[in-house]
Amino acid sequence: MSGRGRFVTFEGIDGAGKSSHVEWFAERLRERGRTVVVTREPGGTELAEAVRDWVLNRPMSMRVEALLVFAARQDHLDRVIRPALAAGTWVVCDRFTDSTVAYQGGGRGMPADDIALLERWVHPDLQPDRTYLFDLDPAEAARRRQAARAADRFEAQDEAFFGRVRGAYRARAAESPERFRRIDGARTIDSIRAELEEDLATL
Ligand code: ADP
Ligand code: TYD
Repeated sequence: MSGRGRFVTFEGIDGAGKSSHVEWFAERLRERGRTVVVTREPGGTELAEAVRDWVLNRPMSMRVEALLVFAARQDHLDRVIRPALAAGTWVVCDRFTDSTVAYQGGGRGMPADDIALLERWVHPDLQPDRTYLFDLDPAEAARRRQAARAADRFEAQDEAFFGRVRGAYRARAAESPERFRRIDGARTIDSIRAELEEDLATL
C-alpha cells in the first residue's frame, strides 16, 4: 500500500475486554490487504518492555510513573510506530497516551496540564486515527479480572480508582469525538466484533 499507514488504539479500564479483540482486529485488516503491526503500551520495544515490568510491579510516585510511560512511548514511537506508519504499515496498539490521561491523570490525580506538556513534547504531531474506548462498569470489570488473572499495581486498585479512570477516558473521548468510538463492554464478544468490523471499513 502507498501512503501513510493508519494508527488504531484500544483503550479502557483493566478487564473492560479490549485485549480480546486486538489480534482479531489486525487479522480483519490483513484480510483487507493491509500490512499490520500489533503492539502495546507500555511496551513494544525491548527497552519499553523492561520499563513496563517496572511500572506494573515496582512502587513509585505518580510523576515517576508518568515519566517512565512517556520514556517508553518515545522509544516505541521512534523505533516502531513512526517507521511503520511512514512505510504504509498499519499500527494496532493496545493502549497509548489516552491511558496516561486516564490512569495517571484520572486515577492518580496528576494535573492535566503536566500530562499535556509531556504529550506535546513526545508526540506534538501525532494522534491515533481511531481509538476504540471499551467502556464498562468497574465492578463488572473487577469480576472479570478476578476470574482471569493475578493483579499488578494497577489492577490491585479499588473501584473508586477505576471509576476515576473511566471518567477521565470519557472526558477525553468527548474532546475528540471524531477519533473515538465508544464500545459498550457489557455486550457479547460477537456483537462487539460486528461493531468493530463495521467501523474498520470506514478507516
Ligand atoms: P482488558 O484487555 O480490557 O483488560 P481482556 O480482554 O483481557 O480485558 O478481558 C478480561 C476478561 O474478560 C477475560 O477473561 C475475557 O475472556 C473476558 N471478556 C472479554 N470480553 C468479554 C465480553 N464482551 N463479555 C464477557 N467477558 C469478556
Ligand atoms: P494492560 O496493557 O491492560 O495489560 P494486561 O491486560 O496484561 O494487564 O496493562 C497495562 C497497565 O498499565 C494498565 O493497568 C494501565 C497502565 N498504564 C498506565 O497507567 N499508563 C499508561 O500510559 C499506560 C500505557 C498503561
